[in-house]
Amino acid sequence: MKEIRKIGIITGGGDCSGLNAVINGITKAAVTKYAVEVVGFTKGFTGLINHNFRDLDLKAVSGILHEGGTILKSSNKDNLFNYPVRQKDGSIEYKDISDEAVKNLKYLGVDGLIVIGGDGTLTSARDFSRKGVSVIGVPKTIDNDLPKTDVTFGFNTSLETICDALDKIHTTAYSHDRVMVVEVMGRLSGWLALEGGLAGSADVIIIPEIPYDINKIVDKVAQRDAFGRNFTIIIVSEGATPIGGKVTVREHVEDSPDTVRLGGVGDIITRQLQKLIPHHEVRYTNLAYLQRGGVTSQFDRSLGLMFGVHAVDLLMQGKTGQMVQLKGRKISEIPLEAVVGSGDIGETSVGGKKLVKVNGQLVKTARAIGISFGD
Ligand code: F6P
Repeated sequence: MKEIRKIGIITGGGDCSGLNAVINGITKAAVTKYAVEVVGFTKGFTGLINHNFRDLDLKAVSGILHEGGTILKSSNKDNLFNYPVRQKDGSIEYKDISDEAVKNLKYLGVDGLIVIGGDGTLTSARDFSRKGVSVIGVPKTIDNDLPKTDVTFGFNTSLETICDALDKIHTTAYSHDRVMVVEVMGRLSGWLALEGGLAGSADVIIIPEIPYDINKIVDKVAQRDAFGRNFTIIIVSEGATPIGGKVTVREHVEDSPDTVRLGGVGDIITRQLQKLIPHHEVRYTNLAYLQRGGVTSQFDRSLGLMFGVHAVDLLMQGKTGQMVQLKGRKISEIPLEAVVGSGDIGETSVGGKKLVKVNGQLVKTARAIGISFGD
């Protein structure tokens, strides 16, 4: 069994609350339980190439458990297996520079790597594992769309933000008899809108898994008016589509592994509704990056710590190529090979996605209490 004397940590992809909790758990367990050294690479996998890292000891991680973001910084443009390298003539060529990273790990004496990230980052973790590097993955994303874990850390803190925002939107909606459209993130999955909308008492929840008909949303507003509730709260996933329509793309980030950035469907719905219900004022709020920050929730702190400690335990037991997961109330692990690209349907550039079940308990619960999905 390979002896582990030094562990490296990488935080990749879009940030979220709970990253620092995982870093905290890993470092404390490595130092306290196993007397092993820890280094953190800066700005995702690029830190591995640029020799950009910092030593992590108990002092370095003291006081970070509750803090959003990542003390190691992150990047979503760092796929070392397909890395943009500038040529002499100024053009960009994509190259596999992963061998260089493996050499750097050896040079630094890093025997095991813990990679914290979403689908893109965990795809790289799997690919490094295939190259013989001892790797453990930790599933992160506010979107909760990673397969093979019930929840990713970061999701719960985002839900708290969404729920708090809907509570605030409610009072102003009520005061002005307005229809309020609130857009949330989630890429092609509707978990944030569905769970945030349920807990935040939305009247309409629009998610990518259930394409909407604008007239059905109008019907719901009319129904509420008839009932004497002259305001309506509509929560919309950024990946939502009208029946037979396409997603709303905000921009393309060409040097990112997943180039598409969604956003703006809430604005489109708002404009359409304003025409269809001129007797109401319709207003649009996009929660955007507010969902990525904030003080980490109790749930994400605990989950982050448990994921981090379990990742260290696995490395120390000689296990590799695994992703830690939450199944029910139990932390366990599953091969990265079984995770990457294994979602319900594989529709984005990297990996499969865990999507909302359209006949699942959450959707049924929402429908049972009169929430409309615009279908
Ligand atoms: O995957 C997390 C996420 O916040 C998505 O919900 C969102 O679509 C995307 O990242 C935004 O990415 P970026 O930070 O590159 O704008």
